Amino acid sequence: MKILITGGLGFIGSHTIVELMQAGYEPIIIDDLSNSEPFMLDNIQKITGQKPKCYLYDACDKDRVRNVFAENTDIKAVIHFAAKKAVGESMKQPLAYYRTNLVSLLTVLDLMQEFKVGNIVFASSATVYGEPEKLPVTEEMPLQKSLSSYGSTKQMAEDILEKTTANHWLKAILLRFFNPVGAHHTALLGELPNGVPNNLMPYVTQTASGIRKELTINGNDYSTPDGTCVRDYIHVVDLAKAHVKAIDRLLKTAETPVCEVFNIGTGAGISVLEMVETFEKVNNIKIPYRVGPRRAGDAESIYASCEKANKILGWKAELSLADMVRDSWNWEKYLKDRKE
Ligand code: WQD
Repeated sequence: MKILITGGLGFIGSHTIVELMQAGYEPIIIDDLSNSEPFMLDNIQKITGQKPKCYLYDACDKDRVRNVFAENTDIKAVIHFAAKKAVGESMKQPLAYYRTNLVSLLTVLDLMQEFKVGNIVFASSATVYGEPEKLPVTEEMPLQKSLSSYGSTKQMAEDILEKTTANHWLKAILLRFFNPVGAHHTALLGELPNGVPNNLMPYVTQTASGIRKELTINGNDYSTPDGTCVRDYIHVVDLAKAHVKAIDRLLKTAETPVCEVFNIGTGAGISVLEMVETFEKVNNIKIPYRVGPRRAGDAESIYASCEKANKILGWKAELSLADMVRDSWNWEKYLKDRKE
């Protein structure tokens, strides 16, 4: 069955393509390479033995995306990843975030309605919870006001999907990702940050490889055990597998609700310092760091209850923090070797 994946060459998208192919689906990719490079498609082929159809288009470009639907009339579902996704950056460029993240979703939904494609899995985010009042967060908890424009775009997108599915031409599964890190065990897929990484893990691996002089930890005066922010880091391959489970549920399970939300995390809260120390221990590398000011838009502490995904999707994270830091480092070494 054909599945259209927007942002399919991105960090999470590329890993999801591999898992979909290995589960017997036929993915079709739309990606404008704004957050990826062409070699990612070659590496998907190296891992799976097949090169999926790929359109190097902007997901906001309605005429071009319409061509994709017209050329692939048997698309059964869409997974929508295409979006800008850095919390810190979104505070500096709010308009670019609202435009890209909302126009791309509206474009895809318009065309899904036009071509009668009635199933979507949407890449939502833990940032929709804002600063949660209670931990771990569950899907039923009321959403606090988002702390970043990025989180606001995800809250708005969820609202658009909830109201659209009420008209019953569309079924949606919203996956609220926590913090995706790690890389494919083959070291052929991983995160490709543009310029200076916004996210913690790529900044750590680039410091380890000497590209960055030292890591700046954004604040250690939070009321957490060691003063640094707590997140629910999840291995990108576990996250990719959750997407396959969501597609299975939409396409192979009768009588599901028209719009379902699932937390996709591990349930474990890990601090910035704990992540750094785990990286150092597992990879036997020292990470020089200094403590800087807090970063605007950061929640102090957030981690998930994933009971609902365990029970209903039959999905549970299996890879450990050690796997995450080892695979991230192997990927960074692969990138360095590629450049040499
Ligand atoms: C984690 C912690 C930083 C860099 C991410 C993605 C977002 C969404 C949710 C999917 C924070 C600190 C970071 C650095 C640091 N994912 N940090 N020094 O902000 O939780 O959001 O997950 O939807 O797309 O951005 O992740 O890795 O940016 O930050 O101290 O150089 O690490 O301040 O406390 P975040 P992050």
